[in-house]
Amino acid sequence: MGVSVRIKTALETSSWIRRMFEEGAELKARLGPERVFDFTLGNPDVEPPARFKEELIAAAQDPRPGLHVYMSNAGLPEVRRLLAQHLSRLHQMSFQTDDIILTCGAAGGLNVLLKALLDPADEVVFFAPYFPEYHFYTDNHGGVPRVVETDEAFQLDLNRLEAVLSPRTRAVIINSPNNPTGRIYDAETLKELGKFLTHHSGRHGRPVYLLADEPYRRLVYDGLTLPSIFAAYPNTLLATSFSKDLSIPGERVGYVAVSPRAAGRGELSAGAVLANRILGFVNAPALMQRVVARLLEVSVDISPYAQRRDLFCDLLTQAGYDFLKPQGAFYLFPKAPGGDDLAFVSRLKEENILAVPGRGFGRPGYFRLAFCVPEAVIQAAAPGFTRAIRG
Ligand SMILES: Cc1ncc(COP(=O)(O)O)c(C=O)c1O
Repeated sequence: MGVSVRIKTALETSSWIRRMFEEGAELKARLGPERVFDFTLGNPDVEPPARFKEELIAAAQDPRPGLHVYMSNAGLPEVRRLLAQHLSRLHQMSFQTDDIILTCGAAGGLNVLLKALLDPADEVVFFAPYFPEYHFYTDNHGGVPRVVETDEAFQLDLNRLEAVLSPRTRAVIINSPNNPTGRIYDAETLKELGKFLTHHSGRHGRPVYLLADEPYRRLVYDGLTLPSIFAAYPNTLLATSFSKDLSIPGERVGYVAVSPRAAGRGELSAGAVLANRILGFVNAPALMQRVVARLLEVSVDISPYAQRRDLFCDLLTQAGYDFLKPQGAFYLFPKAPGGDDLAFVSRLKEENILAVPGRGFGRPGYFRLAFCVPEAVIQAAAPGFTRAIRG
């Protein structure tokens, strides 16, 4: 009655997620939160590094006047300059201040980029399983989502990508390390993707932009490193944040970077700056910009995540689950025993275990477990996982 048809539809399509949260909340109220094993939320529970609070206090006590006023919609020039230097070192490429726009997290950054890029009915490709918000973000800016399945190992399949690319394809979103699979794409995969997109862009006479959604870049295990996406393809736009690097998702600070090699480089960054303004973000939080600028080389301690991952993988393997060990981020994406993800998630709930069905990420038959929870919760849930798989 009150809301638009679009929002009504969105409320309905995401209603099972809400139902799950409600059922989880009801279970916690009934049994006590300590008796419910909640693996639904990707909310980092490792505290930010000590340096974060030190810099926050120092920034708050900075006596200079005018530190809390409106600024350029792109962000503080000094922070942009430092980020440009940081990216230049990381990617061996010459980023300039103008290539960087501070945003309200990677989520804000993706919206800014899509707003800047899309004409009505332009198509945005992303790979299943995907971060569900990509559907909403695409729709926000009049785009049409085109979903491409990944293979059994959740890797990119260029034949399937080819089948959906069209003259209307404007952007392809990739996310590595991946939510929900924990997989990363290696340098060879990205190089092949880059070659492929270069060929497609040439054929249709307009660039397809690659949107690299990288908020988990530093959450990588086993000494693996993430290859440079900028090296793989010239028309690359990065959306990232400090949400996971520093465990500060509630502070809403991130940034967008336009590749120095992108077609329409200057226009793209000008468009993104305007989009930041007209979407109503105006600019990323001022205080946080000043804080993160002093922490560009600092990361949260990822060893608790690595330990939980190992523990969880051991327990699930012993219980007989089929899954790929996550290489990054903090999610496991096992196959649902019996094949029906909704039925299996309900079975887990009988054991007071809360998980998210794979269909929410565009891949039925699987389920997602977020392991940003204390080890004790994982340990305590182990018998329930074993009973659930036995039927
Ligand atoms: C794949 C992916 N992209 C983007 C985001 C948004 O992150 P931010 O807090 O930086 O907006 C998330 C958050 O969980 C995510 O998982």
